[in-house]
Amino acid sequence: MKMEVRAGVVLAALSLSLFSYCCSAATLITPQNILNGTVGGEITFHLSIDPVDQTTDFGTWTFGPKIVVTWTDSKESYTKDYIGRVEVSRATGTLKFNKLFATDSGEYQVSITTAPSNLNLNGRAELKVYEPVSDVKITPKPEHPIENKTFSLTCDASGQVESIHWVKNDQPLSPSGHITLSPDSKTLSFNPVMRSDNGNYTCTASNPASKMSSEVYKLTVNYGPEQVSISGSSDNVTVGAEVNLTCSAVSQPTAIFTWYLKGELIHKEVVYLIKSVKLNNAGNYTCEAFNSVTEEKRSAKMELFVTGSDVTPNGDLSAGAIVGITIGVILSVAIIIALIVIYCCQDQIKAILGWKEGVIKIISEKNEGKFQCILFVVNY
Ligand SMILES: *[C@@H]1O[C@H](CO)[C@@H](O)[C@H](O)[C@H]1NC(C)=O
Ligand SMILES: *[C@@H]1O[C@H](CO)[C@@H](O)[C@H](O)[C@H]1NC(C)=O
Ligand SMILES: *[C@@H]1O[C@H](CO)[C@@H](O)[C@H](O)[C@H]1NC(C)=O
Ligand SMILES: *[C@@H]1O[C@H](CO)[C@@H](O)[C@H](O)[C@H]1NC(C)=O
Ligand SMILES: *[C@@H]1O[C@H](CO)[C@@H](O)[C@H](O)[C@H]1NC(C)=O
Ligand SMILES: *[C@@H]1O[C@H](CO)[C@@H](O)[C@H](O)[C@H]1NC(C)=O
Repeated sequence: MKMEVRAGVVLAALSLSLFSYCCSAATLITPQNILNGTVGGEITFHLSIDPVDQTTDFGTWTFGPKIVVTWTDSKESYTKDYIGRVEVSRATGTLKFNKLFATDSGEYQVSITTAPSNLNLNGRAELKVYEPVSDVKITPKPEHPIENKTFSLTCDASGQVESIHWVKNDQPLSPSGHITLSPDSKTLSFNPVMRSDNGNYTCTASNPASKMSSEVYKLTVNYGPEQVSISGSSDNVTVGAEVNLTCSAVSQPTAIFTWYLKGELIHKEVVYLIKSVKLNNAGNYTCEAFNSVTEEKRSAKMELFVTGSDVTPNGDLSAGAIVGITIGVILSVAIIIALIVIYCCQDQIKAILGWKEGVIKIISEKNEGKFQCILFVVNY
């Protein structure tokens, strides 16, 4: 941030012609020039004496009815309120304030008597003391500009602000068309804001004694997503091929992409890569682009056709396929082991089960009635 304090300067003195040395000491100090200072700042009242061969022998500065300082060629005497705060230069009558108060604003008078010619000269000067401008900043509203909506920038500042100027990309900004400026120049309104308004904005607040510029506000209009599209290596691939589906959108800020297949969320990046495509990868893919600032969503669709068959000896297997195959292998081994055990140990198994073949022993006569013979046929 830049801060400039314009001060010092000026004027004064008198126009005395060489020929009017004697009697009427003319008055002086160019009165149309007001001195502008800032609270806490410095200011100098320069006097210049004409004719230039004269110096100040003695003199007095007054502020209204109050004497600021009187001096002779050998010493100066300050009024209490001004001790340490002002300095007079005896030879020239120049008065310097080291630290201005707001209450120093007003009209000052000076009278001097010159040496060696003993001319009496009078002058006046007007001082205005301003609160320095500080804390200049731009506030956007809303925080993020959205294309075709209203937007404004406000320039806020502390201190005594008398004027505000706006600059876009180092050029003074003049309101026109969809850009308007409030009567106090504080608020720049975009109605609506467009991409062509993008750029670097600064505002400068000033008064006659100080000015300060804000930091750059970089305006970036948000829009989109627009023109969402999917580009794929091909939409008709054979099993085992690599498929790279890339989504794109025109969007500020960059869109967030989400992929769907048959309504299910499958991926959350701009590129959806299938290293080795399978038949069940075929289908309608949707890429959804979302802009987090405009909160708009748009999507694109693409149908992927897969031809061929899924036998992929050295292709990549999914986790599901690996689990399935593992379970299958374990089951097969278990069944084979069971069959071997049954075959080898059939006698023991029969014994354990109490298996008898074709023989019914009648143990007592009490077992009268119908007998049923259930015959298990075991092939071996
Ligand atoms: C904003 O308006 C322009 C011009 O009418 C149009 O081309 C553009 O698509 C609009 N943008 C949005 C985000 O509505
Ligand atoms: C805005 O400022 C940035 C750096 O602060 C600079 O890179 C960019 O070029 C500027 N833009 C314009 C349009 O001047
Ligand atoms: C002080 O400010 C006024 C405007 O208020 C201006 O006319 C004048 O020239 C300024 N003085 C100096 C010395 O710049
Ligand atoms: C895909 O390509 C195969 C072989 O090139 C072709 O037979 C089939 O018709 C194509 N399918 C589509 C939907 O384009
Ligand atoms: C997929 O395609 C995009 C755009 O063509 C490319 O930037 C990216 O590197 C590709 N990814 C792979 C893994 O091939
Ligand atoms: C994909 O969508 C098109 C039209 O929306 C439809 O005709 C086609 O059957 C869909 N394909 C699949 C695999 O669901």
